[in-house]
Amino acid sequence: AIAYVHARRVWDSRGRPTVEADVLLEGGAVGRAIAPAGASTGSGEALDLRDGGTAFGGYDVRKAVANVNDVIARAVTGIDAANQEALDERLIELDGTRNKTRLGANATLAVSMAAAHAAAAAVGEPLYRYLGGADAARIPLPQIQIFGGGAHAGRRVDIQDFMVMCPAAENFAQALDWTAEIYRAAGTLLQEAGTLAGVADEGGWWPSFASNEQALDTLVAAIERAGLRPVEQVGIALDVAASDFGRNGRYKLALDGKELSTDGMIELLAGWIGRYPILSLEDPLAEDDTAGFLAFTRAAGNRIQVVGDDLLVSDADRLRDTAGAANAILLKPNQRGTLTETLDARRVADECGYATIVSARSGETEDVTIAHLAVGWDAGQLKVGSFSRGERMAKWNEMLRIEEALGGKAHFAGRSVLGRSPP
Ligand code: PGA
Ligand code: ZN
Repeated sequence: AIAYVHARRVWDSRGRPTVEADVLLEGGAVGRAIAPAGASTGSGEALDLRDGGTAFGGYDVRKAVANVNDVIARAVTGIDAANQEALDERLIELDGTRNKTRLGANATLAVSMAAAHAAAAAVGEPLYRYLGGADAARIPLPQIQIFGGGAHAGRRVDIQDFMVMCPAAENFAQALDWTAEIYRAAGTLLQEAGTLAGVADEGGWWPSFASNEQALDTLVAAIERAGLRPVEQVGIALDVAASDFGRNGRYKLALDGKELSTDGMIELLAGWIGRYPILSLEDPLAEDDTAGFLAFTRAAGNRIQVVGDDLLVSDADRLRDTAGAANAILLKPNQRGTLTETLDARRVADECGYATIVSARSGETEDVTIAHLAVGWDAGQLKVGSFSRGERMAKWNEMLRIEEALGGKAHFAGRSVLGRSPP
């Protein structure tokens, strides 16, 4: 049972405060976890509680930390940490709002995840095996960012994530090898063009491009420069993050100087699917455009993966209510505020025939919980950001350790985990 809970303020990859929680069990086992934070957040996400005011741009988390230490700690003491549902139910009850607006999802999630770590430590198991049992052996197919964009790069380009996927790799380690070469080649191409300008929030190269399509062309060139074959070996995944530049059926692509209707946006993306080796498109339309999502998925969902992030906010109910609007869901635990609610969405995704992708946020830390969730929940895919910066590499490196620990039992998820709609 939980004996003691303590939270403190620590700092994330953007230099902003965030919540870390420690959970101590009566038997002596301890667990620790840190809440991440998004920048291009969906409006339906659970609340990332910030203090406002002038300190640290209003991003301080003293209230959320105090909510753990003054309210949550007392309420969860005595609960069996191995009963994650009971713990999370208590957190949900204690908060009493749909989106954790009283205590903050950053407060509840840090405790929810720290308790899972403590429970795993109590039985001496790595978290992925504690969550998934002895059968948890599928290593996720990663989506890895090469160029940042959108809200993560000062809106320098409209599209948020230009990523690669390596479904033809033999294992996770090889997928990283290939990605490392592509990331390097992309940097070299920018350097040769005289446009190398550092990295964006998630570690992808800063997108000094004249158009969104120039970023796509450069990505294909980087795959080839790395000695790899687009389509056969390496595909492209985009997070369009269209909620950031579209609303009420109007989409403003600032870099391209275009304002498109929903139909125009669908046509633009269909053109890209025809010209580039695209395997996956996330938030191709805005979160207020469910009809557009349905139309897009009807048109393209039998050929590519269509991912709902801002649209679905890891919410089982929204997933049910919008069935058919996508064929894959991003799972971000801080969009809900507890592991149990996020796992609910993972279960409903199975019912609805959706693929699942465990995902980091743009504001991250050294916390590697999501690597374990991806294996323990058998998500099939993992999205962490780019191939640089410690908070990203910590997760990729943890997955290498998990793959090694599983040895011959490990099997790397290939193409079959990609979301596909029935024709
Ligand atoms: P965020 O970006 O963490 O800023 O929301 C990640 C994403 O949109 O997938
Ligand atoms: Zn997204």
